Amino acid sequence: MRSILVLHGPNLNLLGQREPGIYGSLTLDEINRRLTKLGEGLGIEVRTIQSNHEGALIDALHEARSWAAGVIFNPAGYTHTSVALRDAIAAISLPVIEVHLSNVHAREEFRQRSLVSGVCAGTISGLGVRSYLLGLRALAEILEEGE
Ligand code: DQA
Repeated sequence: MRSILVLHGPNLNLLGQREPGIYGSLTLDEINRRLTKLGEGLGIEVRTIQSNHEGALIDALHEARSWAAGVIFNPAGYTHTSVALRDAIAAISLPVIEVHLSNVHAREEFRQRSLVSGVCAGTISGLGVRSYLLGLRALAEILEEGE
């Protein structure tokens, strides 16, 4: 069975309590449960990691090279600031799908620039938990086609 990494960036551990008008009421555990369940249906093992630390996210991307077929990544605030995360994505040669719960293009100007989009296979933004679920479906198809 294929395995994929779902990587969640800073402050996403507070989902459910954090600005629910923007990010919704689901907790990170609930999002992870839904991803795991969808993965079971698609024949994909979903492993999830959340970190508030840029270096830990980079380490998780590097380590994914040894076991994952691809990555679903919500870099959260680092989306808009991190050259180092962009470089890590470019370095690992795995398909990475960037996802955001909120529609970053409808928000503050500083959120409308993503430093990681250019090195990701694609980006899904603004659909709440569906951004992650659609990202997983897309990744499953990309991996099938690559066979
Ligand atoms: C986010 C959007 C980012 O701008 C923000 O910093 C986040 C979450 C989202 O999922 O909508 O923390 O990535």
